[in-house]
Amino acid sequence: MKNCRLIYKSRASTDVVSNEAINHLVEQSAQANAARQITGLLLLSGNRFLQVLEGAYQDVNRLYGNIMRDTRHCDVELVTFEPMESRYFEEWNMRLVDLYELSKYPREFIAAKYQYRDGVILIPERSHEVYSLLLDAKALCLTTPWKKEKSP
Ligand SMILES: Cc1cc2nc3c(=O)[nH]c(=O)nc-3n(C[C@H](O)[C@H](O)[C@H](O)COP(=O)(O)O)c2cc1C
Repeated sequence: MKNCRLIYKSRASTDVVSNEAINHLVEQSAQANAARQITGLLLLSGNRFLQVLEGAYQDVNRLYGNIMRDTRHCDVELVTFEPMESRYFEEWNMRLVDLYELSKYPREFIAAKYQYRDGVILIPERSHEVYSLLLDAKALCLTTPWKKEKSP
């Protein structure tokens, strides 16, 4: 089966950003994604989501359909959807990266590289910068101790 990578951004509804609700969402997502060999990352910056989903075309499409209808966020906007030769986020079926929880030095690194307003890192407009942010987030997850470890 052919594989693809889909990236979208959206705006979180106020109640989903609470620690408990978001951890629950990511836990359930990781479980459901594992059953379909979907991998990816969910980045949260302020009240903005940026998510990457990797897997079989049909599974990723179906999941994106569900996600678009989900009332826990709005303004869902596709960033890229393309064929995928190899996964970038094979480490996680879904992993939350809350940029607000970064410790000092990784935060300074991200803030210097991407646009920053009112204490919040802005999700870039251009798709190559979106990729760059997601890959930086991955690198930070793999190499840097976080203030508070999140699961999964
Ligand atoms: C920001 C966000 C990200 C989500 N990511 C996933 C995901 O990676 N995997 C997943 O199964 N559900 C995810 N969901 C939940 C889906 O929208 C949906 O609730 C889930 O696929 C179950 O759909 P169903 O009740 O129709 O089976 C996400 C929801 C939101 C708001």
